Amino acid sequence: MKKKKIGIMTTGGDCSGLNTVIHRVVRGAALRGWTVVGILDGTDGLCGDKPRTIVLNEDVLPIENAKLSGSFLHNGHAGALNFETAIERGRVKQFNAQLRKSLAALKLDALILIGGNGSTSLAWANREIYSDLQLICIPKTIDMDMPVTERTIGFDTAVQQLTTFCDQLMLTARSHHRWFVVQAMGRDCGNLALNAGVAVGATAILIPEIKFNTDDLLAHIANAPTDYGIIMVSEGITLRGHSGRPADMIARKLTTAGILNRTAFPEHIQRAGDTTACDRILATKFADCALNAIENGETYVMTALKCGDVHTVSLSEFVASGEMVNDPNIPGLCTSNAYVEPDNPLLSIAQDMGIYIGNYK
Ligand code: F6P
Repeated sequence: MKKKKIGIMTTGGDCSGLNTVIHRVVRGAALRGWTVVGILDGTDGLCGDKPRTIVLNEDVLPIENAKLSGSFLHNGHAGALNFETAIERGRVKQFNAQLRKSLAALKLDALILIGGNGSTSLAWANREIYSDLQLICIPKTIDMDMPVTERTIGFDTAVQQLTTFCDQLMLTARSHHRWFVVQAMGRDCGNLALNAGVAVGATAILIPEIKFNTDDLLAHIANAPTDYGIIMVSEGITLRGHSGRPADMIARKLTTAGILNRTAFPEHIQRAGDTTACDRILATKFADCALNAIENGETYVMTALKCGDVHTVSLSEFVASGEMVNDPNIPGLCTSNAYVEPDNPLLSIAQDMGIYIGNYK
């Protein structure tokens, strides 16, 4: 079999688990006698006169570093040229031509792109760029808002990070008989807040998918079996007539009702931390699936987890899924609608455990 040369890059926001994917791709490729070239800074690494790359092997990215968060390959500078900024600057044609030229110069047989909804949908929308090689995407995001796959790289570690953060707050909360309103990341999707909230035993979890009533929330806290605890608030919630950070809005309501509280913002801690075993196993499964897809001659596909089984789905199926919504401003960019569904079993379990989750059932 022909010895292949494959490229790999990380795009969009980072998360824990990216380095495990890269490491496993490198290891699996080496066993096949293939070469792996890491493209630095996502698409930005393909925009200069010469592509910015690094030849990857286990000396460069040793196994003990494969669990570290961030991306060994970087995800790009803020404001760098990428599909979105190229559209804003009216340079799409030049940008696409540049990427095609750089990929041709690298003489790649295949490219593994590790990205979220934005990168994956834009890769499909601009697919001519990749017509001379095989394009395999691997889904990652702490938001867990990608359709077609039941899990994304980085989500499990983010849940663990947020849970650990809240566990530590719980002790100081107890000492001072007060509440912590913790703001979780996740954009418009409540998966991260819901999962970490259940893990930590929060007293209330507010997510964008479920409407809530402030009076009910305050009554629930006032009648809780403890006078301290965690109120988990997803960054995507809104409160009519109020503006500012969601955790601040809720904290103000508590203060007005005489409930002692503080706010806490774990922010990018949720994208950090050593990768959990679950994320490392998923990273290994996706890397193996991607390498097999390359071996089988597949292209324009994405790895996905369904009922515990990993397989590829076509990118056309991904963007056509009922859960992807076109961005009106950026042609080809899809945002996701893959939110916490009302039939998510964790919602009723949370409610059974006395957690206030809003106007649910
Ligand atoms: O999409 C991942 C994510 O971490 C969101 O949860 C969050 O809203 C956003 O990215 C933060 O982006 P930035 O790193 O640009 O502040």
